[in-house]
Amino acid sequence: MKEVSVSAPGKLILLGEHAVVYDKPCIVTAVDQRLSCEISSLEKRILEINAPDVGVSNYSKSIEELGSGDIEKGAMFIELAVRNFYKAHSFKSGLRISSRSEFKHTFGFGSSSAVTACVMKGLSEMLGIKLTEREIFDLSYKTVLDAQGVGSGFDVASAVYGGTVYFVTSGKKIEPLNIKNFNLVVGYSGEKADTASIVKEVAEKREKNPEKIDRIFSEIEELVDRAKEAIVDSNWEKLGLFMNRDQELLTEVGVSIKKLDEMIDAARKSGAYGAKLSGAGGGDCMIALCPPEKIAGVKTAISDADGEILDVKVNAEGARIEK
Ligand code: MEV
Repeated sequence: MKEVSVSAPGKLILLGEHAVVYDKPCIVTAVDQRLSCEISSLEKRILEINAPDVGVSNYSKSIEELGSGDIEKGAMFIELAVRNFYKAHSFKSGLRISSRSEFKHTFGFGSSSAVTACVMKGLSEMLGIKLTEREIFDLSYKTVLDAQGVGSGFDVASAVYGGTVYFVTSGKKIEPLNIKNFNLVVGYSGEKADTASIVKEVAEKREKNPEKIDRIFSEIEELVDRAKEAIVDSNWEKLGLFMNRDQELLTEVGVSIKKLDEMIDAARKSGAYGAKLSGAGGGDCMIALCPPEKIAGVKTAISDADGEILDVKVNAEGARIEK
C-alpha cells in the first residue's frame, strides 16, 4: 500500500494523575475528538512533514538523519516515531506525513501521544507489518520518552486502545474496562499547562517531603482501585465522590489553580456527582460527572465561571485505519 489515512482519539484522565508517574494506577478515557494523519510514500529517501496545527509546513529531513541535528518542535514526535519504527523493522523508504487535529493541542487532550500512535498504526498498515496493540503501545511509548523524557504512558495507551482503560505506569498493566457510557462535562480553563515542568515540580516536592507526597499517592491508588469498581458497576454517584476526594488530594499536592477550582466548585453546586481537574493541573481542563438532567445547568455554571465548554463524548475508539 502506498497511502494510508489513520486517526487516534484525544483523552481525558478520570482519576490518578501524578500518582501514575510513581507506579500507581490511573483511569483514562478516550474522547471522540480525533487527530488524523495521512501517510504516503515518496521516491526520495526523505521524511516530509506538514502539521499546520502546530505550525509545521514542508519540514523535511533525510531518512538517514532522522532523530539527529535540529528537530523542529512541532515535528519532533512524528520524526522520532518514524525513526523508531524504521529502526525496529529495518525500513528506509521516503514518506510524506500530514497531521490534522479536531482538538487544539492546548487542551491537554494528548496530541503528542495521538500523533505518535497514528504514525505507528499507519506505518504498520502501510508496510504490512502486523503489530498488536501492545507492540504499537511499546514503540509509541518509547518515542514519547525519547521526545520528552517524562511521562507515565497513560495517554499513549488511551490513543492506542481507546475506550476507558485502567493503566499502571509504563504499561505494567493496561486493562480495558467494559463499561456503559457516562456523562462527562468538560471545561477548558483557557490556560495551557506545561505538563513536563509540573511533573518536575511534583518530583521536587516529593524529594523534599517524601512522606507527605507518598501518603497522598497511596490514597490516590486506593481511590483509583475503588473508582474502577464503581465504573464497572455504573455507580456514578460513588465515582463522583471519589473524584471529589481525588481533587482534594491534588490540591494538597499543589497542582490545582484558582480558575480550575472555581469551575469545579460551580459544577458541584449545579448538581454534578463530582468534579476535578484532569491532567497535570496548572491549567488545561476540568471534568464534571453529571446525572443527565443536570448537564445543561452544569455547563452554564462552568461557562459563568469563565470556562470554555468542550463538547466531547467519552469511551471513544482507539487508533484506527480510516482508509
Ligand atoms: C498529565 O496529563 C498526567 C500526569 O500524570 C503525567 C503522566 O502521567 O505522564 C501528570
